[in-house]
Amino acid sequence: MHVAVIGAGSWGSALASLLRSKDHDVVLWDIDELTVSGIAATGDNERYLPGISLSPGLRATTDLAAAVVGADLIVLAVPSQVTREVAERIRPLLPTAAEDCVLCSVTKGIEVETLMTMHQVLESVFPPEVHPRLTYLSGPSFAVEVAAGLPTAVTVAARDLVYARRTQIAFATKFFRPYVTEDVIGVEIGGCAKNVIAIAVGLANGLGFERNADAALITRGLSEITRLAMALGADPLTLGGLAGVGDLVLTCTSEKSRNYRVGYGLGQGEDLETVQQRLGQVAEGVVNAKAVHLLAVSLGVEMPLCNAVYRLLYEGLTPQQAVDELAARDLKHELPGRPLPDGGDDA
Ligand SMILES: NC(=O)c1ccc[n+]([C@@H]2O[C@H](COP(=O)([O-])OP(=O)(O)OC[C@H]3O[C@@H](n4cnc5c(N)ncnc54)[C@H](O)[C@@H]3O)[C@@H](O)[C@H]2O)c1
Repeated sequence: MHVAVIGAGSWGSALASLLRSKDHDVVLWDIDELTVSGIAATGDNERYLPGISLSPGLRATTDLAAAVVGADLIVLAVPSQVTREVAERIRPLLPTAAEDCVLCSVTKGIEVETLMTMHQVLESVFPPEVHPRLTYLSGPSFAVEVAAGLPTAVTVAARDLVYARRTQIAFATKFFRPYVTEDVIGVEIGGCAKNVIAIAVGLANGLGFERNADAALITRGLSEITRLAMALGADPLTLGGLAGVGDLVLTCTSEKSRNYRVGYGLGQGEDLETVQQRLGQVAEGVVNAKAVHLLAVSLGVEMPLCNAVYRLLYEGLTPQQAVDELAARDLKHELPGRPLPDGGDDA
């Protein structure tokens, strides 16, 4: 199988290495010449996956046309905010790929300008005949662990299960186990909104809160995420799966998560710019916080934790103010829409 992985950052490189380990012919494309020349020279990606040996035989290029020609599988692994521009560059090249080429997006996020999820972005860029061949890989998966060959399970969503299955087979190894589903929007919302909750958990820990707070934030975060996903037509069971609770738990409980680290730094009193500079890589949650907040407002979905994270990042709310505001909220029934016996707020 000929595979083009578009985006040689942490995730693109880890997946390219995994695919190469299955003897697929894999070429990694990136816009950044230094990243590409580094991979071409050493076979490894010292910038994004330092100290990790990638599978031998990976090719790397900055020539997009050369990457796409003859591809049976194109993996889109660039950050969400540049997915549209990269997809637009791929569109005219698609006729040079294999006729039945599958395009698998592994990006988690919402385009902040349009509030479109990745499937909406890609379906607006590619012609309708390509849409069934678009698939979405998500779930609890740190790039460093996948690159190191550690056990991982993910979900592949597609509106046409035939192509989800094809993607599943292309990626599956003894240690990398993809499941399939038709619930594209559920998988997408889970993968994106969890980053916002990870910032909240990091922040709580930065403030000195411990495991009780983590569990509360993760559980109530899941409840918010499920409400948003359902408002967009998702199956609530998806949010109980790998792309929902699975990814949420992973992201919220590990210092490997960039979003958790952003929150932790803020909780420790650092400003956003300092934290992001130290990170040196994309923390999708910072942009996702805005997108999730705006999407929730546009759909009339109540998301108090995501709203607090948004105001903290963009409107100058302090961590202490966020905590005070959340603690002062009306007491509620745990399940949405259920009334209290004395007629209290049931929102
Ligand atoms: N890192 C992980 O563990 C992980 C796991 C699962 C999913 N993801 C998702 O994968 C996506 C990519 O994340 P990452 O961690 O690989 O990011 P990264 O910051 O490590 O790499 C991003 C890559 O995109 C390239 N890029 C940036 N701007 C570009 C542009 N305008 N045009 C073309 N290429 C551009 C960069 O050169 C870089 O190589 C994100 O949506 C992330 O949420 C990441």
